[in-house]
This record gives sequence, structure tokens and C-alpha cells, in this order.
Amino acid sequence: MKAFRLLSALLFLALYPALAQTYTKEVSRIIQAKCQQCHRPNDIAPFALMNFDDASSYAADIKRVVSERKMPPWKPAVEGSAPFRDDFSLNEEDRLTLLSWVEAGAPKGDDADLPEPAPVSESPWELGEPDLILSMPEYTPPRVADTYRCFVLPTGLDETRFISAAQALPGDKRQVHHVLIYIDQTGESAKLDGVDGQPGYTCFGGPLIELTIGGLLGGWAPGARTRHLPEGIGQVLPGKSRIVMQVHYHPGGRTAPDQTRIGLWYRAADKVEKRLVNIPLINERFVLPPGESNIEVKASQFIFPFVSGKAIQVAPHMHLLGRKIRVEVRDADGTVRPMINIEDWDFNWQGFYTFTEPVKLPANSTVWLTSYYDNSANNPRNPNNPLKAVRWGEGTEDEMCLAFVGVVFDNESLLPFRSGSTR
Ligand code: HEC
Repeated sequence: MKAFRLLSALLFLALYPALAQTYTKEVSRIIQAKCQQCHRPNDIAPFALMNFDDASSYAADIKRVVSERKMPPWKPAVEGSAPFRDDFSLNEEDRLTLLSWVEAGAPKGDDADLPEPAPVSESPWELGEPDLILSMPEYTPPRVADTYRCFVLPTGLDETRFISAAQALPGDKRQVHHVLIYIDQTGESAKLDGVDGQPGYTCFGGPLIELTIGGLLGGWAPGARTRHLPEGIGQVLPGKSRIVMQVHYHPGGRTAPDQTRIGLWYRAADKVEKRLVNIPLINERFVLPPGESNIEVKASQFIFPFVSGKAIQVAPHMHLLGRKIRVEVRDADGTVRPMINIEDWDFNWQGFYTFTEPVKLPANSTVWLTSYYDNSANNPRNPNNPLKAVRWGEGTEDEMCLAFVGVVFDNESLLPFRSGSTR
């Protein structure tokens, strides 16, 4: 009897993971929330994870990438980052669930436990029909690993508008890896457009034009969601300007024509009290000596001398030698508060990260950027063979030390009349 009890206890323990965790109950829900925005048909990921057959046939790969923390490609570390909206990282519990499910032989479970499939939206535009849609001409990237191309899109607008949201909509989601949206107020981009006989022009680290304040409008990467800026806030799109859209293509062996579009949503001028400006934190004067593997570079900080503000979003940017990047706020009393900390930088997975709660920038606080580079031969991404000293530049073989912090100022008011004022 005792032996039987022991045996059944052992059996229970052995079966417990299988009994506890099934595809239909837990795993399908995790995959739906954290993987399917990319692992669905005709999207950026190389295979879909839409059902049990998909998930079980990739079970061993899922185990490997989840244990190595390669997937999902959410880069900010919990430690050293403020909480972000639309975070698609796996928490520890979900990670362990996926791992022990594979360990237990990837059991299916009862179909009745399956969640409702994620709703499929009618329109590809996440916030309904945009007020303005801009489209690049059709372009087929060459059959190489990565192509970075800027396309010039005249807005056709005479008047200045305020933008509350921007979405890039890849023509071919299987090859568009990320998109950055810039504003060209000078017309410089038009001179570069098409000089090599193809639409647009080659660009890697930036749009190769002089950017004015507010010149970076936004960015898009697979898995990102489009949202309106908080009420009362807008980004300025000056009249007669052009949009320069940088597209990173990663065609993975096959190429096809692409025609990526940008949708912009306006906010009426009488509803905009504050501008959001993506302020660059930059160091352009560093040198990365060849062979060194852990080179620290700090960027100039910006100081808010008399005015206070809030950071709404942050977008760190380095090239291929970058390994780590951190942005933080130091208050006048020395207190350090985190904004973002990326411990395993990957150029392919850069993005705009929006804070769940805007990060306060009190008067006299400073914002710091610290980044680390590996310019040794051990860095498999090092583009330079033989190794060489690397400096700031826009090319693949150059580097950048840069982060854009999307800021609004507390005391700004663009409204002509503020209710409550006594003039
Ligand atoms: C933001 C988009 C995105 C999300 C979210 C995402 N993936 Fe991926 N996944 C990719 C892309 C793109 C690739 C192709 C390899 C690459 O570019 O890194 C990939 C590759 C993989 C691979 C094969 C990689 C290899 O080394 O063999 C596995 C397995 C995988 N993903 C599992 C997952 C799982 C499990 C989740 C959710 C927990 C997930 N992915 C979430 C985009 C995504």
C-alpha cells in the first residue's frame, strides 16, 4: 500500500507538468499574446505559430530561443528600464511555462480550453482610416541580406499640421524589418532621390539630410502597435515639407516588389497644447580603437535649466558594434531614475519605446546616455575586416552614439486662450 502510494506520488510528479501545462490551456495564450504579432502568415517571422501543429513542430526551436532569450525580440531589460507600453517580452512565469511544456513533450490538452483566436482587424490601419496616406513608388530590394533605402514622399500639404500618430504599413511584411520616418524641411532629400536610377537613395544610419528640430517623426518595427499621442500633444509637420522614409529590407533569400505606405493622423490645432519633440542625445566625437571589446562612450546630456518636462518615449540608436545602451535621468539632488537599458543591442531590433507613465524631467535634471561598443574580431557583427578605428558616421562601417527622447515641456501652451487665464 505504501509502495503504491509512493509510486502514484512519483507518477503524479512525473506527469505533473504535462497535467498542468498544455497547449490549449496556457501555451496557446502565451503564443497569442507574445509571438503571433510576427509569427503569422505573410509576416516578418519565417514561420507561423497559429495552432497546435505549428507550435509542436517547432517545439525544440521554441525551447532553444526562449531559454537563450532570443525570442521574443523585446530588447529593454527590466532592470534599468522604466515600464513600457505594449511590452511583448515574456515574463519569468511565461518563460518557464513554455520551457516546461516542451520538456514535458509538448502536450496538446483539451480543445475546449483553447482561447478565442485573436481578432483579425478589417483594416490594416490600426487607428482607422488615416487623414493622410503617403506611398513610396514600387521598389524591389536586391537579393542581399540587408538593404537600407530612403524614399522621399512629398506631403502635398501647404499648411502646417499636428500629427497625433504615424503608422508605417509595409507592402511586403515578409521583408520589411523596420521603418524610420523623418521630416525634410529643406528639400535636400529630393536631390538624392533616384540618382542611381532606382526610387529613393541608399542610406544606413540616417537620412543623409540636415534634420531640423522635430525632424524625426517616428518609427515602426514588427510587433509595434500604433497609438495616438496623449491628449493635448501633437508633433509638428511643417507645410510644404517632405517625409523621408527609411526602410530596412531583410529579404531572407527571396525578394519581391515592395510598396510601403505611411499613414498619418492629424490632431486639430485647437486641441494641441504642447509639441512633442524627439530630442537627440548625441556624441559625435568618439573613436572606437580596433581590437577593444568594451568601449564606453557617454553622450552630451541635455539640461532643463528652468523648465520642467516629461519624456513620453525613447528610441536608442547605434550601429553594428554597439552592445549596450542606457538612458537615464539625474535629478538636481543626484537621484538617478531609469529610462531604458538594453543589454544586448541588436541593430535589427531597434524601436520607439513608449513609457507606460511619462518620465518626469524636473527643472535642473539632466538626461544621460551611455553606450558600449565591441570593436574586436570576436564581435561577429563587426563589419570591418581588417579591424579599424571607428568613428561617427552614417555608413554601415561607421558607428553612432545616439538616442532620441520624445519630450514635452510642462509650461508650453500653444493654445491661443487658456481657460482660467485672466487676461
Ligand atoms: C517582433 C516580431 C517577433 C516576435 C514578437 C516573435 N518573433 Fe520569433 N522570430 C521573428 C523573426 C523575424 C525571426 C527570424 C529570425 C530573426 O530575424 O531573428 C524569428 C525566429 C524565431 C525562431 C527561429 C529562430 C532560430 O534561431 O531558429 C523561433 C523558434 C521563434 N522565432 C520563436 C518565437 C516565439 C516562441 C515567440 C513568442 C514567445 C516569438 N518568436 C516572438 C520575429 C518575432
